[in-house]
Amino acid sequence: MAGPREKWNSRLGFIMATVGSAIGLGNIWRFPTAVGQSGGGVFLFIYLLIILIIGIPLMIGELTIGRRGQSNIVNVFKKIKPTRPWWLIGVLGVVTGLIILSFYSVIAGWSLSYIYKFSSGLFRTAEAAQAEEIFSSFVSHPWLPLFWQMLFIILTAAIVIKGIRRGIEKASTTLMPLMFILLFLLLFRSLTLEGAVTGLWWFLKPDLSAVNLGIILGALGQVFFSLSLGMGAIITYGSYLSRDDNIPESSFIISSLDLGIAVLAGLIIIPAVFAFDLEPGTGPPLIFITLPLVFAAIPAGDLFGALFFLLLSIAALTSAISILEVVVATFKDIFQQTRKKSSVIAAFLVFLLGVPSSLSMGILDDFLLLGFPFLEFVDFLSAIILLPLIGLLTALFLGWVWTPEKSLVEIEQHGVKFKLWKPWSIILKYILPLALAYILISGIAA
Ligand code: PFF
Repeated sequence: MAGPREKWNSRLGFIMATVGSAIGLGNIWRFPTAVGQSGGGVFLFIYLLIILIIGIPLMIGELTIGRRGQSNIVNVFKKIKPTRPWWLIGVLGVVTGLIILSFYSVIAGWSLSYIYKFSSGLFRTAEAAQAEEIFSSFVSHPWLPLFWQMLFIILTAAIVIKGIRRGIEKASTTLMPLMFILLFLLLFRSLTLEGAVTGLWWFLKPDLSAVNLGIILGALGQVFFSLSLGMGAIITYGSYLSRDDNIPESSFIISSLDLGIAVLAGLIIIPAVFAFDLEPGTGPPLIFITLPLVFAAIPAGDLFGALFFLLLSIAALTSAISILEVVVATFKDIFQQTRKKSSVIAAFLVFLLGVPSSLSMGILDDFLLLGFPFLEFVDFLSAIILLPLIGLLTALFLGWVWTPEKSLVEIEQHGVKFKLWKPWSIILKYILPLALAYILISGIAA
């Protein structure tokens, strides 16, 4: 319902909420998996380059659009450019958000169930075959994963219903510090394992001769997914921002923390996998099958395992609320409904859309799209195609329609100075659209 727009209570609250959105399954599940599958340090190196050239500039642009438009992701574009159909970017963002949250909640549900599995000692003496059996019998069960997925969605909606300050900001400022503590505890445990050093090198040392288009495309999708770019989460959080915030500085802080946490997650997982002579390239099951074997083999492994999945679930929750918020903020305005009703409807839709992803690990495992099981297909479709595509459109909007000169007026208020404005505008106008178009077209053609 219309009323004065809610604002973040403090800058710290805004940073925590946005870092909470950025840090999630993308950092702790998707990133180590991608590093594992694409041969170690080379992925990290390309990832870093893309964050600098594409990620941070786009985050500055998205926050600026949000703060300028002060509305949901469909209306912000209408407000800035009323005469053209750029608002369709917002519609695409809402659809992408629903798709992402549908499979995100499935994996987050697995993570919640693993807290329970570790706490009840299920993995205590597990060997490779057993760990695999525990995972596959769980994910292929017809309704058990749906139950955990639903629980995760209910938790997410319960926070979003409470609004920006009392819901999202409060949850993020409470949960993020807890997540950081858990992360350092687990890092210490992993790096003190005997034999961890081999993995450490494999992860950090780039073999540049291994660069290929697949790795670049994968790293690009990972940057979008991990920094929450391209589907309106950053625009929406920017729309609750006060005029005196220093957007370039905030974008740098948020992106650096996100990168730092992805590297830390890699440092927890990869050396541990090497220390036990396990295979890092197992794909999505890496943390659900391979990592539990590490926990099964160390003292107090049940406890560390439960803590790891608690960490993963918290990270997933603070990201999921940002995705649901994009949808809820839009539904609320467009259909003139209360926040509560919009949240319930959006949550229900996400659950329904998630059912085929969940079942694709069991009953529907024969049903392939472009050769992928449904869950991997929607992950690929959203991260590798939809997010960079929306990113491309947003860069064109920023660079050529709204223009960097006008963005600068929005950025430089209350004494904020944007020293890197010139390189930023060149990146937005030329480098970002060309690089994204090239990578997208060649990637899809390949
Ligand atoms: N950035 C989140 C992660 O790394 O898990 C996922 C995500 C959140 C993607 C919000 C997109 C988004 F808008």
